[in-house]
Amino acid sequence: MAPKGKGTNGAPHEGVTRRDFIHVLTGAVGGIAVGAAIWPMIDQMNPSADILALTTTEVDISQIDVGQSITVFWQKKPVFIRHRTEQEILEAEATPLSELKDPQTDQSRRIKPEWLIMVGICTHLGCIPIGERGEYGGWFCPCHGSHYDTSGRIRKGPAPTNLLVPDYVFDGDDKIIIGAREA
Ligand code: FES
Repeated sequence: MAPKGKGTNGAPHEGVTRRDFIHVLTGAVGGIAVGAAIWPMIDQMNPSADILALTTTEVDISQIDVGQSITVFWQKKPVFIRHRTEQEILEAEATPLSELKDPQTDQSRRIKPEWLIMVGICTHLGCIPIGERGEYGGWFCPCHGSHYDTSGRIRKGPAPTNLLVPDYVFDGDDKIIIGAREA
């Protein structure tokens, strides 16, 4: 039987056809190429610190007094951060779910009672509501008259749902990271 494989000069032995040789070579190169293509896909599943920095916003909340709000931007969207008063918290917690168009407890909309974090975009047609306005002491959207309460829940007007609560975590007492989730 004729020997298979390459001769010492790198050329195929007589028993190996030229087509066999090209197939072996193509398979080896293809394997390397597929391996090289799969690795970036796997690597993409572990977002780098750079990518995380683009998708999260860190906010120092230590200077926001009780009764004050600030607006920051996260992924190009306004986010309201309100340091609620005791009265606002009590009102939000005492509201029966039966009175709500989009029933959600206040507890389900915040991590710490005194801090309310919400995307500041009206759920009707996307205007930016004004804080400490409206019939429920929360936010009011002047575009078409939607009233939100002190938990950011829709109470009156055309908006169909509550103001959205984004993912966020506390980093100590003085910092929140919007867009991050508990591990
Ligand atoms: Fe806010 Fe229409 S966009 S009420």
